[in-house]
Amino acid sequence: MTQLPAPAEAPTKTILRALQGEAPAVPPVWMMRQAGRYLPEYRATREKAGDFLSLCYNPDLAAEVTLQPIRRYGFDAAILFADILLLPQALGADLWFVTGEGPRLSTITSEEDFARLKPVHAIDETLSPVYETLRILRRELPAETTLIGFAGAPWTVATYMIAGRGTPDQGPAHALKTENRALFEQLLGKITEGTIEYLSRQIEAGAEVVKIFDSWAGSLQGDDFDRYATEPARLITETLKRRYPGIPVIAFPRQAGEAYTRFHQATGADCVALDDSVDAQWAAENVQIHGCVQGNLAPRHMVEGGPALVSETKRIVQAFSKGPHIFNLGHGITPEADPDNVHRMLEAIRS
Ligand code: CP3
Repeated sequence: MTQLPAPAEAPTKTILRALQGEAPAVPPVWMMRQAGRYLPEYRATREKAGDFLSLCYNPDLAAEVTLQPIRRYGFDAAILFADILLLPQALGADLWFVTGEGPRLSTITSEEDFARLKPVHAIDETLSPVYETLRILRRELPAETTLIGFAGAPWTVATYMIAGRGTPDQGPAHALKTENRALFEQLLGKITEGTIEYLSRQIEAGAEVVKIFDSWAGSLQGDDFDRYATEPARLITETLKRRYPGIPVIAFPRQAGEAYTRFHQATGADCVALDDSVDAQWAAENVQIHGCVQGNLAPRHMVEGGPALVSETKRIVQAFSKGPHIFNLGHGITPEADPDNVHRMLEAIRS
């Protein structure tokens, strides 16, 4: 592990300042899935790459699509172009994407399936092109743009590894948790270890912030939420902070509802990302009091546009204006979004 030099002075990048607890007059902004199919230039580059996974593993083209929304909109952060399912693939799962349907993976439902996975230290053999993408981005990004690396949270990654695909209720993962808790916890432990190493390599390659996506955290209830969403995020955050003290962590336990409050307190994450089911005023009073928050405009406004896009954007900026806030959507921008609506959102935030 290489030790990073300590930053010589206070950060000037707006996102890093918000992550340190500052409340700037205009919140910094980026969007989940900002490099995606709603952009014609993304579709053209993806075509050139052949398919989605070839794009993820081609450092020049992955860097190119990461830069496209920065050029078009001047966002305050760029997020590495990759996918949370590259880690399971690096651990030995088969992975492919069915056009129009989503990801497919070989399933893990028995001790034998688990035993076939590769050791954690083997992940770099598959993931080294991702680290190269980050090195290119650190050279090519404008000086004011923050580079965000990411990984899936162990629970969310496990739901795909167990079911072999996306599921509406994460049923297969809940079933394994009930029927063979030892195996379920072994799998979660291995993904947690892999995530720590994956994010460590991303930081060493130039990521200035890392984000942990727990898209299915909301299907964990009570103790299960604390054990399988909060605890892995806490452990990943604590380990990364010990290794790389200056690197902030954003955690996104989507659909956590009221549990956002104790999640923010318990994980030690510098920022918690809010989905759009959470009311901004409630979140300002109950979550932002524990530190920076990110979010939380509903992605449908990027499709629908109109006066509601502007009024909702301004309402969210206003609700979070007394504390540290990074403006974002509550989930990824969708392929049907109108690229002009993004300009309208930025104008509403910055004017
Ligand atoms: O946000 C970004 O711009 C960075 C890149 C990024 C992608 N996926 C690219 C992608 C990030 C951060 C992700 C995270 C991700 N991937 C999550 C967590 C966030 C969330 O959305 O809840 C999840 C659950 C995945 C797994 C995944 N990848 C699914 C279920 C799908 C299919 C659904 C879909 O939108 O098509 C993907 C594909 C995917 N990942 C695309 C992109 C741009 C679309 C691929 C394409 O070009 O066809």
